[in-house]
Amino acid sequence: MAGPTQHAHWSSRWTFLLAAVGSAVGLGNIWKFPYEAGEGGGGAFVLVYLAFVFIVGLPVLIAELSLGRRGQLSPIGSMAKIAAEEGRSKAWAIVGWSGVLGGVIVLSFYSVVGGWVLAYLLKALSGFSGYDAAMSTQTFGNFVTDPVNPIIAHFAFLAITIGIVSRGVQGGLEKAVTFLMPALFVLLVGLMLYSAITADFAAALNFLFNPDWGKLNVNTVLQALGLAFFSLSLALGSIMTYGSYLTKDMNIPQSAVTIAAADSGVALLAGLAIFPIVFAYGLNPGQSVGLVFTTLPIAFGQMPGGVIVGTLFFFLLTVAAVTSAISLLEPAVSYVEERTGIDRKKVAVYIGTGIFAMGTLSAWGQSGNVLGNISIFGLDFMGLKDFITNNIMMPLGGMFIAIFVGWFISRKNMMEELTMEEGTFKIWYFLVRYVCPVAVGAVFVSIIYNTVIAG
Ligand code: PFF
Repeated sequence: MAGPTQHAHWSSRWTFLLAAVGSAVGLGNIWKFPYEAGEGGGGAFVLVYLAFVFIVGLPVLIAELSLGRRGQLSPIGSMAKIAAEEGRSKAWAIVGWSGVLGGVIVLSFYSVVGGWVLAYLLKALSGFSGYDAAMSTQTFGNFVTDPVNPIIAHFAFLAITIGIVSRGVQGGLEKAVTFLMPALFVLLVGLMLYSAITADFAAALNFLFNPDWGKLNVNTVLQALGLAFFSLSLALGSIMTYGSYLTKDMNIPQSAVTIAAADSGVALLAGLAIFPIVFAYGLNPGQSVGLVFTTLPIAFGQMPGGVIVGTLFFFLLTVAAVTSAISLLEPAVSYVEERTGIDRKKVAVYIGTGIFAMGTLSAWGQSGNVLGNISIFGLDFMGLKDFITNNIMMPLGGMFIAIFVGWFISRKNMMEELTMEEGTFKIWYFLVRYVCPVAVGAVFVSIIYNTVIAG
């Protein structure tokens, strides 16, 4: 087995920021955030989500970037190396393993939903005219339960992802995000303005920002924490890997604030683009996973210029999903490349093929065949993978990352890596040492209490 090889680096702070925001902004912001906010009752969920992003997510984001940059290796290599340098147990590499494997599991269903988005992009080109609630729900249901088409779409989405990752950091990742991220932002702002002018903006503002605290319960709080981690791409190796391509002269805390602000800003923008349409057309905001696939097409079918708006919307969603998917594949590819020295292109194809197979199970799990009837703890394959990664691996992974940097690395080394002012460092240090572990721990204890003991 060849020894670890040196990673590539970002060519500038700007391309790093685009790539990291590209990883963060994805289906989590434009597909998940609106439907979870819709199900969770709106304003109260949104505020809790924002609080988690800045109080728990941001400190962990800073921690992950700094671990990646210090290690200069894949998440597994970086965790092992830093633990050894600090005289700590090798077992800390498990955090890296959990990230890399979690990323692979997430990508296996992320790319199925990515395939749905691609397929809807094609549907949008021919318009959704005549769609009412029944027809829209039926079309979506027919599509996801079809045994062939979702697999083709899933394959196409993964092929794009593998194509970009196999070209490497500067040749693939940077080139893709430099073009795609500005395009995404312009489209999203345009769509939001269109919604604000033509649809019910006031109702959307009221729904998103007027908290009804009675709607919150332990499950929605856990959901909001999971979403904060998911939407910031935490604990799955992506951010640590992107951190490993950073050079020493880039300011991590400043970059992390920019990433968190852009990420939650896009979630809110997506909400402000989608909910005015939902309310103006009398649709149900609590439509779960189908919100953007079943609800919005009804509106696209009725509004003036709906073919263009609908096409742009699904194009935007495709772009957001692809720039996140590449960051889910990159950690595993960087690990195998680093350990074996095998050509990146081959590694990307091998791992991508495994992910395709795993994803095919999730896709078939949606259909009416044998797999579709399998239910584990009341969840289908896709729901189960989502639950394990989003509600367990990501928050726990984030908690251990916070504990590692807060309690197992010397304060002096952390300060040197982060080059923050003493005052700001103290706040960050307090958050990673106490607030992050306690917040995540408390949410877990209450969910366990509620589901196992009280429920
Ligand atoms: N942050 C991405 C989104 O919001 O869609 C999803 C994601 C990417 C999660 C990378 C985790 C990750 F490591």
